[in-house]
Amino acid sequence: MKIAVIQFEPVFRDKEKNLSKILSYINNIDSQILIFPELCLTGYYFLNREEVNEIAEHSKGDVISEIQALSSKLNKGVVIGFPEKDGEKLYNSCAVTLPDKAKSRIYRKTHLFYRERFCFDPGDTGFFVIDEPEWDVKIGTMICYDWRFPEVARTLALKGADLIVCPSNLVTNVWQNALSTRALENNVYMAVANRIGSETRNGETLTFNGDSAIYDYNGGVLAKASQGDESVIIAEIEPAKTRKKSFNEFNDIFSDRRPEMYDL
Ligand code: ACM
Repeated sequence: MKIAVIQFEPVFRDKEKNLSKILSYINNIDSQILIFPELCLTGYYFLNREEVNEIAEHSKGDVISEIQALSSKLNKGVVIGFPEKDGEKLYNSCAVTLPDKAKSRIYRKTHLFYRERFCFDPGDTGFFVIDEPEWDVKIGTMICYDWRFPEVARTLALKGADLIVCPSNLVTNVWQNALSTRALENNVYMAVANRIGSETRNGETLTFNGDSAIYDYNGGVLAKASQGDESVIIAEIEPAKTRKKSFNEFNDIFSDRRPEMYDL
């Protein structure tokens, strides 16, 4: 199967423009699963909850419903970051829409980065894996700063993920080795969709570093975007190959684990 990562620069607070671009990408990219960046519906650098509340979407609202409808019509999976409103709560979320709506889920970012704590509630969905037998793939989701916690990828892998998707707005240049390592140490594919461009609020500029990548289960690069250009990268993956966790006759990275020795 083919997966695609879309790297672009959302226009801050211009939901209509961003959505139109996202829908056009979904319509035109020839892949089973399309992964977009974190908060790409609105841009990233909100300063407070009031700003997020003005623009946030309900998971069953018009925007996610439109993406779901397209996902079903085109028989594609879509992973897309958006600010989510649920009653009084606000989450930095991503929707995973699959052709069969019953399988679609929302993941709410667990670990909040930098000033996100002033804008969002910590995610309460925990980590889950969606099984899509039509493509024989099990998909796990995390968002950006979640990468700093190896427990996240491990949890997803132990739950059976073959492919971990990571919508991101990364502002450092230290994550590449870690995400390739998360792929290797869990024997899973890893797709990181980062954004490009910068946003300045109250005199502070955040620059997003692109470099989106799809890693194979040995941590090798299957496809890579540049640091500064809008681009779509596509890779062919074989999800079933991630399920054999042994790498020689005697060792298996899951059954060799000794959790009783770990102080976690
Ligand atoms: C991040 O979590 N947006 C770095």
